[in-house]
Amino acid sequence: MKLVTFCSFKGGAGKTTALMGLCSALVKEGRRVALFEADENRPLSRWQDNAVKRDAWDPGCSIFVADELPLLEAAYAEAEEDGFDYVLVDTEGGSSELNNTIIASSNLLIVPTMLTPLDVDEALATYRYIIELLMGEDLVIPTAILRQRVPVGRLTISQRSVSDMLHALPLTDSPLHERDAFASMKDRGMLHLNVGKVSADPGMRLALRNLETAMEELLLLGDFVTETLEA
Ligand SMILES: Nc1ncnc2c1ncn2[C@@H]1O[C@H](COP(=O)(O)OP(=O)(O)OP(=O)(O)O)[C@@H](O)[C@H]1O
Ligand SMILES: [Mg+2]
Repeated sequence: MKLVTFCSFKGGAGKTTALMGLCSALVKEGRRVALFEADENRPLSRWQDNAVKRDAWDPGCSIFVADELPLLEAAYAEAEEDGFDYVLVDTEGGSSELNNTIIASSNLLIVPTMLTPLDVDEALATYRYIIELLMGEDLVIPTAILRQRVPVGRLTISQRSVSDMLHALPLTDSPLHERDAFASMKDRGMLHLNVGKVSADPGMRLALRNLETAMEELLLLGDFVTETLEA
């Protein structure tokens, strides 16, 4: 069982959304995915409630509340026993004892960031924090920055220079763009299931194209994750 953790000091960096998308990509590829809810605001549980109502939740995917250390330990034991392939962990912004434990127990760490100077500053601080924590514990865990909410179309000069700067660090192969299809996942459920539903409706050709484009980005992120973990 492989643990993939999304973390960032900054709130609103796109952790939960990237996790929802990666979940969809891995489930679509037939992997068994567990989700650890380590954010006490419980965004994943809300996601599941909304998704179930819209019949867009894969019942093979389970959420384990893990916002306290004993719950995290129990969730890990149960998920391993249940035979999940992947655990995706959604953390709260900031640093805490819980986040440190999660980071040190992960197989892959993903730090999402938008392309503004302020966001990238925060992502660099998170990255440095992770590296120092891992070095202190004598651990080597692959850590990658995910460019999140990248504008579709031409980047501004500032966005381009920020993006060039990020290339000095380990990055996921491809970014996630700013898309309605991603923003609406929290209300609509798993993207791959919605692609399936919309494709059955001939009146929804344009919506289908948008969902498929978003799904392609998620599958690339899924490939990056599986390849990194299998390397
Ligand atoms: N690629 C994207 N395209 C469009 N909207 C996005 C994208 N990624 C995230 N968002 C939106 O940005 C907002 C913040 O995203 P999200 O909740 O994923 O961030 P977070 O890092 O989990 O925040 P928090 O620190 O509060 O947990 C949400 O409203 C989400 O719908
Ligand atoms: Mg979140």
